[in-house]
Amino acid sequence: MSSSKKTKVIYDTDPGVDDAMALYFALAHPDIDLVGITTTFGNVSVEQAATNALYLAAIAGCDAPVTKGVAVPWCKPAEKPPAHIHGADGLGNLGPRQPIGRQLDPRASAQFIVDMARAHPGEIVLVAVGPLGNLSLALMLEPRLPLLLREVIVMGGTIVEPGNVSPVAEANIWNDPHAADRVFTAGWKLTMVGLDVTHRVVTTLEHFQRIADKHRHVATDTLLKAVEFYARFYSGLYSHVAKTPGCFAHDLLAFIYLVQPGLFTTTVKSVRVATEGLAQGQTIMNERDFIDYPQPGWEKTRHRTQVCMQVDAPGCLAVFEETMLADWLPA
Ligand code: BDR
Ligand code: CA
Repeated sequence: MSSSKKTKVIYDTDPGVDDAMALYFALAHPDIDLVGITTTFGNVSVEQAATNALYLAAIAGCDAPVTKGVAVPWCKPAEKPPAHIHGADGLGNLGPRQPIGRQLDPRASAQFIVDMARAHPGEIVLVAVGPLGNLSLALMLEPRLPLLLREVIVMGGTIVEPGNVSPVAEANIWNDPHAADRVFTAGWKLTMVGLDVTHRVVTTLEHFQRIADKHRHVATDTLLKAVEFYARFYSGLYSHVAKTPGCFAHDLLAFIYLVQPGLFTTTVKSVRVATEGLAQGQTIMNERDFIDYPQPGWEKTRHRTQVCMQVDAPGCLAVFEETMLADWLPA
């Protein structure tokens, strides 16, 4: 596909091992033109997230700008990052890293999103796979953002599948529920890729070994090492994952949705986020949106979100492997 036909994407991320998988998928896919990487706190501090994004991009030969964004949730106190899942460094405790000759873009992530959306109105898809503070702040800086971005795809939330940080909450939404509710009610073309689908797709260590063997490159070796750490967590938690050691590739699914939406079954309803109490971080879908409920917040006129409810898992894994095994890395 020629560069003019590629989709311009800003990747908002908290790398994070599955964030790293998703980044490399985006770089490998011929239809994606990655025009910026904006980072946030989440799996690690925002400083570490920015360091990781810059490192992962540099070793894969990507020169897209990388920015640092919000460091804490909008309203609630910050929590300690989940070092037992992603490693203390967010990349499975990599150890010494290669020197890279690159610097961060000096703009804050939210400002970068606004600048790019104004410069390319109607062209950019924003794929957000961390807590949603950058996007929420960008909306405050530029209220016309929903008109300026082509589409927003969020990895986060869950409707039917149990949560992963509480019985009802998924980590990205739970990490900043106020920001998330702002994003779900902003009125853009929004797709939610949540645990209902990400828990159906297991990538295995064998996949990442095959990818590393094919490329013999520092980028895919780094990814394999990070995934080995991350897969230990998931294989220890779920017996079906342990059978062929691997992991859920949450953030990757947001990009697979972007390039192959036909692999997903979706429903279009309004979604709100519980911001307080025991259900904090729950994404609640209004199944009966034909009813005019008397409670404020559920008006029939509310903006709708497209929610991914089912997925063709073998189809996703085939797209993943085919994309990652192609020649996408510099020699
Ligand atoms: C999400 O939380 C993070 O730990 C992952 O990177 C992913 O974005 C899954 O709940
Ligand atoms: Ca993430």
